[in-house]
Amino acid sequence: MIIEPRMRGFICLTSHPKGCEQNVLNQIDYVKSQGKIAGAKKVLVIGASTGFGLASRITSAFGSDAATIGVFFEKAPAAGKTASPGYYNSLAFEAAAGRAGLYAKSINGDAFSNEVKSQTIDLIKADLGQIDLVIYSLASPVRQHPVSGVLHRSVLKPIGDTFSDKTVDFHTGIVSEVTITPCNDEDIENTVAVMGGEDWQMWMDALLNAGVLADGAMTVAYSYIGPKVTEPVYRKGTIGMAKDHLESTAFKITEGLANIGGKAFVSVNKALVTQASSAIPVIPLYISLLYKIMKAKGTHEGCIEQIQRLFSARLYTNGTIPVDEKGRIRIDDWEMDEAVQKEVAELWKGATTENLPGIGDLNGYKSDFLNLFGFGIDGVDYAAEANELVEIPGLI
Ligand code: NAD
Ligand code: NA
Repeated sequence: MIIEPRMRGFICLTSHPKGCEQNVLNQIDYVKSQGKIAGAKKVLVIGASTGFGLASRITSAFGSDAATIGVFFEKAPAAGKTASPGYYNSLAFEAAAGRAGLYAKSINGDAFSNEVKSQTIDLIKADLGQIDLVIYSLASPVRQHPVSGVLHRSVLKPIGDTFSDKTVDFHTGIVSEVTITPCNDEDIENTVAVMGGEDWQMWMDALLNAGVLADGAMTVAYSYIGPKVTEPVYRKGTIGMAKDHLESTAFKITEGLANIGGKAFVSVNKALVTQASSAIPVIPLYISLLYKIMKAKGTHEGCIEQIQRLFSARLYTNGTIPVDEKGRIRIDDWEMDEAVQKEVAELWKGATTENLPGIGDLNGYKSDFLNLFGFGIDGVDYAAEANELVEIPGLI
């Protein structure tokens, strides 16, 4: 069928298989253009189908010739209904890996469940033996706890005080005031249960106990800090509590990996347009100002540039991995650059519906958002019939 974008709120209901494929091919080309990385050879990526996780899978495979197993939770196609973009991305990735002679298999299911963890372990045992890098890149609004059965829902709320500030509806370009009432204690617990480190720890315990982690295995999860303007709803809000928990879990995991000489790290990444970040109030306005400034300075990066730099300039340099005073890898250094942040703060104060198209990169935001779903990609013929029903061969 002919596939067009169908927007509803912060999501797009359709996605384009050819556009998603082109997105993946572009990311592969970028990684190849940057040269080889002396990285891990057997890599498990949890949250491998979009955003930073997909970029991690591509960087491992096409930067270091790694065999990869990807875990994700995506909608398969059905008659007249497109799959979710992560599904088409993974299909395109596996096909490209196959053409390059690289092992790639994927598991589509709930990574928070015991079942998906044991399926993954079985697949590692059968095909790869042991893993030397585990990337943990889940972003989810809900988690069913595998022990209690409780369905936890994360919320994006400030803690203590009501928050009011500017936000933009990036579809319409309208800048307005958003007010968010503070969370209760349960909101914090639930958000930490979904986006904190417990599930990462459970994964690493399960992999270690099954004997499928190689000596010196490393694991990396992704975090975010961001600017003062988003602090009340992000880093000092409910999600920030979850990120604090995730970051402290890295130390516990490292202790648990002592016998195999393994290590856990958190990498703080840059703010980027992904399905997850588009749903957070205030962030889209911040990102549109940030993009404008970073593009002008020539320091703007997308997911693939961020992760390629994380792997080549932080994780696999042959030297020690540089970390901040809290033990975190910082690849958000160009975003957090003092001059950049000063400029964002200035522009923020004066941002209105009228001037945002000029002072911010609203068009860049919109096109990045469409690109997530495989739309607006150069070289794709959107007027042509596309086969939405293509499936990932051998998907578990
Ligand atoms: P994303 O939405 O693009 O990717 C999320 C991935 O998780 C997808 O592969 C999805 O299929 C998978 N997933 C979600 N629920 C799942 C489940 N139950 N079982 C299996 N897989 C599941 O998100 P992203 O922006 O790449 O975020 C990844 C990590 O990076 C998050 O921890 C996020 O906080 C962090 N991060 C994001 C930003 C940003 O600006 N986007 C910045 C810094 C850090
Ligand atoms: Na991801």
